[in-house]
Amino acid sequence: MKRTGILGLGKYLPANILTNADLERMVNTSDEWITTRTGIKQRRIAADNEATSDMAVKAAKSALKSAGLEPKDIDLIIVATITPDMFFPSTACLLQHKLGAGRVAAFDISVACSGYVYGLTIADQFIKSGFCKHALVVSAEKLSGVTDWEDRSTCVLFGDGAGAAVLGQVETGGILGAALGADGSKGDLLQLPAGGSRMPASIKTVENKLHTIKMEGNVLFKHAVKIMADAALAVTEPLGLKGDDIDIIIPHQANIRILNALAKRMGVNPEEKVYLNIEKYGNMSAASSAVALTEAVEEGRIKKGDIILMDAFGGGLTWGALVIEW
Ligand code: ACO
Repeated sequence: MKRTGILGLGKYLPANILTNADLERMVNTSDEWITTRTGIKQRRIAADNEATSDMAVKAAKSALKSAGLEPKDIDLIIVATITPDMFFPSTACLLQHKLGAGRVAAFDISVACSGYVYGLTIADQFIKSGFCKHALVVSAEKLSGVTDWEDRSTCVLFGDGAGAAVLGQVETGGILGAALGADGSKGDLLQLPAGGSRMPASIKTVENKLHTIKMEGNVLFKHAVKIMADAALAVTEPLGLKGDDIDIIIPHQANIRILNALAKRMGVNPEEKVYLNIEKYGNMSAASSAVALTEAVEEGRIKKGDIILMDAFGGGLTWGALVIEW
């Protein structure tokens, strides 16, 4: 069976930059705290009139261009987001229309920060099964719209952006394996409580800021390190790959300390093998690993034949790891 590979990558980051110095003027925090505890120096914030699908379409167009394909060549669209434009229609349907793609299957997945790895894995299955030829996977988030800008424990972490990939069959390399998982029993560690059927929007939910991200950061931190290390093993062991065989790790960018701990567990040098751009963008949920993969390729950090490990963890809880031969 032929493998699925990445034919093109793209990204879009809003122009507006919010620095740690800006945040010092908004909440009781400091550049020193944010930098040492998270590795973040700045993040991008979408314009008021810029929705998730607006960012998604820009990333998608850039991925299509790099793949040398047109919107009409795509026969499956998956959008990974926890900040859709609205409940429905899905952001994938809005994107299909904005792109001018054909009347192809389009759906959203809600997997928080693991969305890109889930999306690539789903697309791989659809392509391998022959259901589609070219899939477009877009991870796009406008977390600034669901952030409590008075809560210093969360508002310093998140940013907005989008990343995209076009996938199709390849003759060499491609996706070698994937491992996905979830643990719904720990869903309350990271949630956006109101606005759904459990707690419909009301004046009270707005007054109590229940439409913003609530997170138990330090509990999640401990889970993140173990879960990401376990997910990495779940995909690399069956492939017979050890830490040394991995040329680069493209992780979800939640916290530099999580990534250093992950590298330690995997026995790899974080400076050599772990790709980081958290300093520039913060945590963009599903968009983080999509933008990270795109930038690693743009910067020449990935060359033909390299073994890439993607590893993500997020709300749900969810996790996913994927090995790609470039
Ligand atoms: N500035 C200054 N002080 C702060 C700030 C801030 N921005 N935020 C919290 N503090 C304080 C706290 O109040 C606390 O003070 P206290 O000791 O007086 O009570 C102290 O700093 C330590 O707080 P912790 O929450 O224990 O800090 P921690 O070292 O755990 O860092 C962080 C917090 C950065 C959130 C970390 O726990 C983390 O990165 N967690 C993982 C997040 C994650 O992976 N989320 C999942 C993916 S996100 C997604 O799916 C959308």
